[in-house]
Amino acid sequence: MNPFALEPIETASIDELRALQFKRLRATLAHAYANSPVYRAKFDAAGVHPDDCTSLADLAKFPFTTKDDLRGAYPFGMFAVPREQCARIHASSGTTGKPTVVGYTQGDIDTWAHVMARSIRASGAMRGDMVHVSYGYGLFTGGLGAHYGAEKLGLTVVPFGGGQTERQVQLIHDFRPDIIMVTPSYMLAIADEFERQGLDPNKSSLRLGIFGAEPWTNDMRTNIEARMGMDAVDIYGLSEVMGPGVANECIETKDGPTIWEDHFYPEIIDPETGELMPDGQFGELVFTSLTKEALPIIRYRTRDLTRLLPGTARTMRRMEKITGRSDDMMIVRGVNVFPTQIEELILKCAELAPHYQCILTREGPMDSLTVAVETRQDLSHESSEAQAAAQRLAHEIKTYIGTSAVIELRATGGVERSLGKAKRVVDQRKL
Ligand code: DLL
Repeated sequence: MNPFALEPIETASIDELRALQFKRLRATLAHAYANSPVYRAKFDAAGVHPDDCTSLADLAKFPFTTKDDLRGAYPFGMFAVPREQCARIHASSGTTGKPTVVGYTQGDIDTWAHVMARSIRASGAMRGDMVHVSYGYGLFTGGLGAHYGAEKLGLTVVPFGGGQTERQVQLIHDFRPDIIMVTPSYMLAIADEFERQGLDPNKSSLRLGIFGAEPWTNDMRTNIEARMGMDAVDIYGLSEVMGPGVANECIETKDGPTIWEDHFYPEIIDPETGELMPDGQFGELVFTSLTKEALPIIRYRTRDLTRLLPGTARTMRRMEKITGRSDDMMIVRGVNVFPTQIEELILKCAELAPHYQCILTREGPMDSLTVAVETRQDLSHESSEAQAAAQRLAHEIKTYIGTSAVIELRATGGVERSLGKAKRVVDQRKL
């Protein structure tokens, strides 16, 4: 089989796709109920049985799964196979408490490599390409997920991982990879390092970047594409559902990640009421796995906010680029603000660099928002030009988002660089 050809299911009719999903959903519900005591107890408590699922719409009768369910069953309590049948364990650290632990049978690892290979192909990979992987290897799913997918597609993989930015640049320069897989924020740090070494990032061998693991805006895409001279596509996923490769943008449209619906069934719910929302409406993304063995996941609440859109490059539906996680939403004097909204406005200021952090503080009863942002490398943050840009940014934030913000200009390197996911919100109110 030619790994670069579209799979039949990618262009199947909606009816064929829904029929496959329904068959797989029934099997997943039955498997979860029969083999995971946690799911059995949850279904019983909700008064539902796998046999009650007589159509895809019936999925809405089943209870949600949350991060707390996984934490409560720490470490392996939700698995639906004996631990001995797991080929691999991953975990996501999270900010508080115990990590969320996930397990994979050999079959799950194969499925994951398959959807990752599909994702990398949809991104625009070509036969013979070399892939530089800068997602972290280890318990985080980014590195190994990308690695297995790229290998499955028959590409040459450079398993660099995160960090050691100077060496990353050296190897990219010497090995001449075609593709980089990395968080968008770390891509910027790598681009800066190119310049620091006197190299023009635009002239690097990289033709394609597959960016995810954190929210990033279309303005950031334009910025990275221009600076790196590459195509930049969005890859989405989360460890609880599998890892990277749950959804991926198709290079021909770049209009939001296509959800690999033959393996992951999406729903959008109202985050307040839990009610199902129709396609096209904004809400919280919920996923049900359709083929997972070790850890079937039923109606997992991702906390990611987006909406479902009809398929374009494929039959399968797309999700709009993620605006933010409900966890990242800042409420500043009653106004809801996401870091991505600030990012869009920063990217419109030519004097500023897209390295930023939102800092929340409280004086008395009032919350206040400070946006720490770097100026362009060749511009002093104390120059009048930079000061004027800061004033403009504050004004735009007030006008478009509706909240006041103090802009704190910093010199290059003044905002902490992430080696993986950027920390966009620093909440000092709790200190
Ligand atoms: O971040 C998996 C991944 C690795 C995805 C590499 C893409 C590339 P977790 O650490 O479990 O897994 O974090 C999952 O990251 O719920 C989103 O909030 C966020 N996220 C992941 N991809 C995107 C994206 C990996 N493309 C959480 N856009 C998810 C926006 C993303 N947010």
